[in-house]
Amino acid sequence: MCGIVAYSGTKSATPILLNGLRKLEYRGYDSAGIAIHSDNTIHIYKEEGKVANLIDSIGDYENDAVHQQCHVGIAHTRWATHGPPTKENAHPHGAGFEEPGGSRIALVHNGIIENYRALKSRLEAEGKVFLSDTDSEVLSHLIEFYYTDDLAKAISTALKEVQGTFGIACIAKDQPDMLVVARRGSPIVIGLGEDQTIVASDASAIISHTRQAVYLDDNDVAIIRGGKIDIKTLDAKPVQRDTADIDWSEGAAEKGGYEHYMLKEIFEQPTAIRNSIRGRIDLDRGTSVLAGLGLDSREIVDLQRLLIVGCGTSMNAGLVGEYAIEDFAGMLSEVEQAAEFRYRNPIVGSKDIVLAISQSGETADTLAAVREAQEKGALVAGLVNVVGSTIARETGRGIYLHAGPEISVASTKAFTCQVSVLLLIALKFARSRRLSREQGIKIAEEINSLPELVERVLEQNDAIAKIAEDFVKFDNMFYIGRGYLFPVALEGALKIKEISYIHAEAYHAAELKHGPIALLEESMPVVALLNAGPGMEKTLGNVEECRARKSPVLGVISEGDEDARAACDWVIEVPQSSQFIATVTSTVALQLFSYHVARLRGCPIDQPRNLAKSVTVE
Ligand code: G6P
Repeated sequence: MCGIVAYSGTKSATPILLNGLRKLEYRGYDSAGIAIHSDNTIHIYKEEGKVANLIDSIGDYENDAVHQQCHVGIAHTRWATHGPPTKENAHPHGAGFEEPGGSRIALVHNGIIENYRALKSRLEAEGKVFLSDTDSEVLSHLIEFYYTDDLAKAISTALKEVQGTFGIACIAKDQPDMLVVARRGSPIVIGLGEDQTIVASDASAIISHTRQAVYLDDNDVAIIRGGKIDIKTLDAKPVQRDTADIDWSEGAAEKGGYEHYMLKEIFEQPTAIRNSIRGRIDLDRGTSVLAGLGLDSREIVDLQRLLIVGCGTSMNAGLVGEYAIEDFAGMLSEVEQAAEFRYRNPIVGSKDIVLAISQSGETADTLAAVREAQEKGALVAGLVNVVGSTIARETGRGIYLHAGPEISVASTKAFTCQVSVLLLIALKFARSRRLSREQGIKIAEEINSLPELVERVLEQNDAIAKIAEDFVKFDNMFYIGRGYLFPVALEGALKIKEISYIHAEAYHAAELKHGPIALLEESMPVVALLNAGPGMEKTLGNVEECRARKSPVLGVISEGDEDARAACDWVIEVPQSSQFIATVTSTVALQLFSYHVARLRGCPIDQPRNLAKSVTVE
């Protein structure tokens, strides 16, 4: 949700900022802008739409003296919250332009300033002129209002008056080599170089320059001049933050020959799952090794409940976890949408463990749920992909996915890796409680085979693309499943609506006749999750009900299941397995299906309208 890049160093800032924006475009893409310091002036360029529009409008920056001589700058790609996606509302926002000579400062901001209306009235009364509808512009004027000659001090004073969240980067006209960045609730990563520093809201924009980074904590303010960085608290107390190594390769954040990041990430799943489960399966003891949870068997036995919180795809993965925890371990488990958990005064206590699932580790609602659970005395752990992200740091214990960077807005490999690790958690809890070694070994072996089973699903890419051709014409779809396959139906429906804009709803297969069945007709296809296992016969009955009402049915079935094949109009076969494993293989099949339907409908797959990769506002 919005991306920030900023630079201070010896090189020309413009190409570094623009390249960084391209890498961050997946976070928001309705408008973009840069502000650079050159020729004792702050030059601001912004444009509606994609970063490419901005680059076109800047023109030949490689041969332009203004750009050759700029060594400090800030940049932003926006996902609109306050005000529509126009050029005026794009960042950076200048302030102090009422005096001759252009803006005294310029600012880029991620997050939300909740008390912006009150601040804006106050500043308007002081004569400040606003050019946009954004909350962010209020912050730029507030900082400028306090600015005399100490930019960091003005920023700290302003930020103390702000309610809400922010990650900011700011430059001042009379500070030609200085960049100041700060955060509260919205990530800022500082990439370290010898005589230069590149700041971004996430690591993908800095890994082509450096692997050494410092993650700011909430209420940190960093003053950066070239390679020199001073970090202080809002009260100007100097603080030290650890340097971390970023282990993502540069290629991992590139398309690598695929037409879309989404397709690349779908095909990366065998490797990503291997990385997620590597070193975590003990086949001999029939259990898993999850040191990051920081729980020994005694402590696991004492736990009464595993509460899972997350949003979107992460929540759907959590549902598979809930089923597995209850199925394997006989332990209570519940999944809750993170915002709902946060605001309904949940009952949690010291015998509960709350697991926050988040690819980005930055989702505002999930973070708020983490804080609420901590407040209530629960043990809180994270299942997070992005190393050093806020949820990972605030939970302090948990498991990293090691899925590599996920750039496509529609989540794919994060889901299958989350499910793989959730199965490992369920196995560990089960072995500490009621599962025998032999039963544990069987489950461990099945989890271990996941990468290879996913490879077999990927081999059907062409066949799935062919089926997708028949679905391009539809405007509505239902997805049905039961048991472990109900979350798969939810995730399948989410994926197709996110990227193809076909309206799709998922129902528990048994729920179909309690209302939705009224909509069944020829133009309402149904995707049925029919992998062999408990409840499959009943879902087959539901499929008959659909076809009796002329709804065509696409079944995701177990390889060689002729009964299931005969019941459907189209089938995608996935390898025979237990249903908890079929959650992963069937989801991969539906990811490919959604991808091809969206591609054939000409949709912008990696950047669907209105969505953002990481939602850092509540
Ligand atoms: C956004 C993304 C979804 C994602 C959800 C949760 O809505 O578009 O793909 O599932 O956020 O994100 P998280 O990073 O917490 O897993």
